[in-house]
Amino acid sequence: MANTFGQLFRTTTWGESHGDAIGVIVDGCPPQMKLDVQDIQKELDRRRPGQSEISTQRKEGDQAEILSGIFEGKTLGTPIMIGVWNRDAKSKDYDHMKDKYRPSHADYSYDAKYGIRNWKGGGRASARETIGRVASGAIAKKFLFQEFGLEIVAYVKQIWEIQANIDIDVVTQDDVESNIVRCPDQDIAIRMIERIKEARKDGDSLGGIVECVARNVPPGLGEPVFDKLEADLAKAVLSLPACKGFEVGSGFGGVVLTGSQHNDAFYSEDSRIRTKTNNSGGIQGGISNGENIIIRAAFKPTATIMKSQESVDVNGNPITIEGRGRHDPCVLPRAVPIVESMMALVLADHALRHRGQTGT
Ligand SMILES: Cc1cc2nc3c(=O)[nH]c(=O)nc-3n(C[C@H](O)[C@H](O)[C@H](O)COP(=O)(O)O)c2cc1C
Repeated sequence: MANTFGQLFRTTTWGESHGDAIGVIVDGCPPQMKLDVQDIQKELDRRRPGQSEISTQRKEGDQAEILSGIFEGKTLGTPIMIGVWNRDAKSKDYDHMKDKYRPSHADYSYDAKYGIRNWKGGGRASARETIGRVASGAIAKKFLFQEFGLEIVAYVKQIWEIQANIDIDVVTQDDVESNIVRCPDQDIAIRMIERIKEARKDGDSLGGIVECVARNVPPGLGEPVFDKLEADLAKAVLSLPACKGFEVGSGFGGVVLTGSQHNDAFYSEDSRIRTKTNNSGGIQGGISNGENIIIRAAFKPTATIMKSQESVDVNGNPITIEGRGRHDPCVLPRAVPIVESMMALVLADHALRHRGQTGT
């Protein structure tokens, strides 16, 4: 069962959407790092449901409890277990879906694989699973900042057809948090919010793109063959619910450039090797080159919508299905801290692996 991610900085998530609790075990975090529950809580607050009029109205405080691995405010080097109680699960909303398959959700494929599924709130396929990733990501972010001054910022780049223009080298988390859609291009943010409200009113949903940058990344993180940094980042991001596309650097856009337009020319600055452009997205040969790491994640429109849809029940009989309950009309605003967390988990893991192999 692949509920664990990472080789040295290991994240194991547990729990279902409407179970008693949900959380994570983080194994491999270096000892003697100052860690407070607030470090984790501030990230969970960015992810939690009910945070704005354009997210799901499920009301969860998502209060983190650290159950092990910390002593006198510092990490022990032992497994850190963090849990959050599920307080506002309204399983009744799902009663009518028990024997039905929601189009483009995980209901049918879970049944096909296990022959049993927790149909309440989507069970393990729910985005509540990402609480564990965000809690672990908060620890990874703190470690990376202390070690390298490394910072990670993600934001909503696109909702539906509405695209923002953002200077990736300077954008800050304060810019991102300045509006409820988490798009630092303020005029475009207003249009995105209106479009999401329109979709919700219409009983429909929207998708979009989250862009994420890591700055102050040391050169040398990543492996040359199977565990290339971009391969691990792709796995990290594509393992998120509703994520259907991944790009690094120029991504799919690079195919319309020629080599001479696309190549990142080297130069030397203060005895550091740099590149003039960054079409490589900070990774060459699977290894970080010291430039900003830039990735993009495409999220599909939320599967559960309030419109009538054709489907089948568990016996294959045709039915009409209509979503009920509380859902995100667009997952993008809440996906921002989750994508940042996955970037942090990959970089923390590779930083420890690099240290293990080279001693630096
Ligand atoms: C932050 C976030 C919130 C989500 N909220 C919902 C939701 O309210 N309703 C829903 O049907 N899917 C939601 N999803 C997506 C489903 O969990 C996902 O589509 C489902 O598990 C099927 O998996 P797949 O889309 O990766 O194939 C959310 C995803 C994320 C990242």
